[in-house]
Amino acid sequence: MSQLIIGSDLKNLVMKTRPWVEGRKVFIISDQKIQTRKLVQSLERFAASVAEMNINVSEQVKSFSYVERLTGWLAARGANRDSIIIAVGGGVVGDLVGFVAGIYMRGVDWINVPTTLLGQVDSCLGGKTGINLTEGKNLVGLIYPPSAIVCDVQFIESLSLRDQASGFGEIIKYALLFDSQFAEEIEVILKKRFVDKQDISSSEWIRVVTRCLKWKSKIVSKDLHEKKGVRELLNFGHTFAHALEKEQKFNIRHGEAVLIGMKMALELSRIRKHMKKKQVVKAQKLIDLVPVPELNGLRPKNVLKTMSLDKKVKNQRKRFVLLKKISKPLIDEAVTDQQILQAITLRDHRASRRKRERTV
Ligand SMILES: NC(=O)c1ccc[n+]([C@@H]2O[C@H](COP(=O)([O-])OP(=O)(O)OC[C@H]3O[C@@H](n4cnc5c(N)ncnc54)[C@H](O)[C@@H]3O)[C@@H](O)[C@H]2O)c1
Ligand SMILES: [Zn+2]
Repeated sequence: MSQLIIGSDLKNLVMKTRPWVEGRKVFIISDQKIQTRKLVQSLERFAASVAEMNINVSEQVKSFSYVERLTGWLAARGANRDSIIIAVGGGVVGDLVGFVAGIYMRGVDWINVPTTLLGQVDSCLGGKTGINLTEGKNLVGLIYPPSAIVCDVQFIESLSLRDQASGFGEIIKYALLFDSQFAEEIEVILKKRFVDKQDISSSEWIRVVTRCLKWKSKIVSKDLHEKKGVRELLNFGHTFAHALEKEQKFNIRHGEAVLIGMKMALELSRIRKHMKKKQVVKAQKLIDLVPVPELNGLRPKNVLKTMSLDKKVKNQRKRFVLLKKISKPLIDEAVTDQQILQAITLRDHRASRRKRERTV
């Protein structure tokens, strides 16, 4: 499993990567929005050499053409099996660069430096790497964990409010799935950030990142390849979310889709009589503290159709991660299409009613 290094002082954190970097050729592939000067200077003190390439990030760079471009760059610059690749960026860079590291010369070591909230609390850990096809997201990939993950929470400060909100999708997921005490802590942080519009301190971010990664590593260490039904729990809200992302032509962030998807999964938990209404309302109120954009003319039947094409649908049965209560998940395989449509419509209906109330 990857070594986790979490803190708020990049120079210091980078020193801790020395065991993997010392004397090796380093190839940094970074999001062009990130200032990497400090990182490069620190690495130059113990690496054999440091080369860098920037990427203009969008979901489209998770593609074979970028894989070709990056592997070509590595080869041209003399990267070999003893080199180490460092990804610096959000989930897009992590997924793409991790995949490149996994296939270049049949696999070279890599380090992930996630710079988005979503990247730090979720996507950096668990080894899933990959790219998209025109037929769908993340259809080509590898499980190829990095040697080390360096989370500097100071990166979160420069993120747009929207990208911070997106990260909270995964944070709330961990709280609702496993940790009711964490859900209470998150409520305080969400009110501070999105209601009172205050900044979150580094120590608060460190607590949040550490807590999420603790839960994720607990799950992933039991079921890295998602074969034992344990890792599947992390798909809470995601069956809806993946379909929503596609239906909305990827005009919403992954974490935003997860927030909406979790609200639908909560409706479904109530419809399937697993969860009491009071608990559903409590969980939904937590999600509602995070601002998400209105969906663009959502068509529930389209969402349902897209769901049926999801790579996680087993033998035509849709498996849903639902909740009995906060921190008590279950898998339900007996959900009907009618109930799915009802969950989508109910969430959609309530969201538009709230919007009407706000504008009155
Ligand atoms: N591998 C996994 O387990 C896993 C899990 C969840 C999501 N993902 C993938 O992650 C991707 C989404 O990741 P994301 O939300 O991090 O998106 P992203 O990488 O696209 O980053 C979001 C935006 O923030 C910018 N950015 C990055 N760091 C910044 C910083 N510190 N300050 C200012 N701007 C910054 C980026 O340029 C981009 O515009 C999707 O492709 C999704 O499929 C992977
Ligand atoms: Zn996710």
